[in-house]
Amino acid sequence: MDRLTLRRPDDWHVHFRDGAMMAAVVPHTARQMARAIVMPNLVPPVTTAALADDYRDRILAVVPDGIDFTPLMTAYLTDDTDPDDLAAGHADGVLTAVKLYPAGATTNSANGVTDIERTYPALERMAEIGMPLLIHGEVTDPEIDIYDREAVFIDRILTPMIERLPTLKIVFEHITTADAVAFVEGAGDNVAATVTAHHLVINRNDIFKGGIRPHMYCLPVAKREAHRLALRKAATSGNAKFFLGTDTAPHAVHEKESACGCAGIFSAMTAIEIYAQVFDEEGALDKLEGFASLNGPRFYGMPANDGTVTLERRSWIVPEAIQVDGGTTIMPFQAGEALGWRLAD
Ligand code: NCD
Ligand code: ZN
Ligand code: ZN
Repeated sequence: MDRLTLRRPDDWHVHFRDGAMMAAVVPHTARQMARAIVMPNLVPPVTTAALADDYRDRILAVVPDGIDFTPLMTAYLTDDTDPDDLAAGHADGVLTAVKLYPAGATTNSANGVTDIERTYPALERMAEIGMPLLIHGEVTDPEIDIYDREAVFIDRILTPMIERLPTLKIVFEHITTADAVAFVEGAGDNVAATVTAHHLVINRNDIFKGGIRPHMYCLPVAKREAHRLALRKAATSGNAKFFLGTDTAPHAVHEKESACGCAGIFSAMTAIEIYAQVFDEEGALDKLEGFASLNGPRFYGMPANDGTVTLERRSWIVPEAIQVDGGTTIMPFQAGEALGWRLAD
């Protein structure tokens, strides 16, 4: 098979940032994806329906003319989130979901949740109204090894949460471990997971191959090879609980190539092509449409997209950089490397 036509995919996990960075990255997602869940970890964060509404307008202003793209907005959960504001934003169609960052877990999470107990009034309301909770699932306890933080989160936070709120819709974001795969497979239909393109491609050795590679660093950090293989199996299995969420997370090159480099991998430019390559390698191209275009909308209770995209088997080289403004650039994931599939224009 050298051409593959799919319903237009969606990306259920993106970071667009704001200002010039947003203007540089939004066209890449909008070219590939019909809709995207936009994460709220701006500085300051998007904590209310009103802030999300304004942010949506700023995003729509930089979508290129002639492209049909819908940003789906999220609110950043804090210890003090007002359940009424979430419910009103959800009812108005402004807020699709709510994002839980444990404080200190990842980029721009300083205002995140410090005490999960304090969020239960919001979580209870969300369970009542069917509003999904999207979770960065890592504990922040410095005693816990960084490679174990996702697995420990399952035991300490996620399992008790689901016992207490068994109907809450939960997306376990950017899963990186066989533990998370098994947990999601064993949970009810209200629990699903996104899988990034990069976690299907790299393992933790790639971060240190021949020297430290800041552009391979993201959170949750890539794990051992056995975990990568478990993710590939889950994503390509046809199980509707797993769907596409790139976690495309642009940072300026100078912020990544630093003594304390930021976490995040920018994959928006090549996302659907990388997933196609992985599904092809796994002999599962027939499962790509479910993962990329059907499972996500089904979980979120939305229709699949009407249009289609076509992928061609054709070798091309990922560009070295995209320009933001002035001297600022972003390095795409796998810059300078060859990919075997390409989105047809
Ligand atoms: C994300 C970012 O840069 O906003 N970084 C990352 O490494 N994934 C935050 C996140 O999704 O955890
Ligand atoms: Zn995250
Ligand atoms: Zn993210």
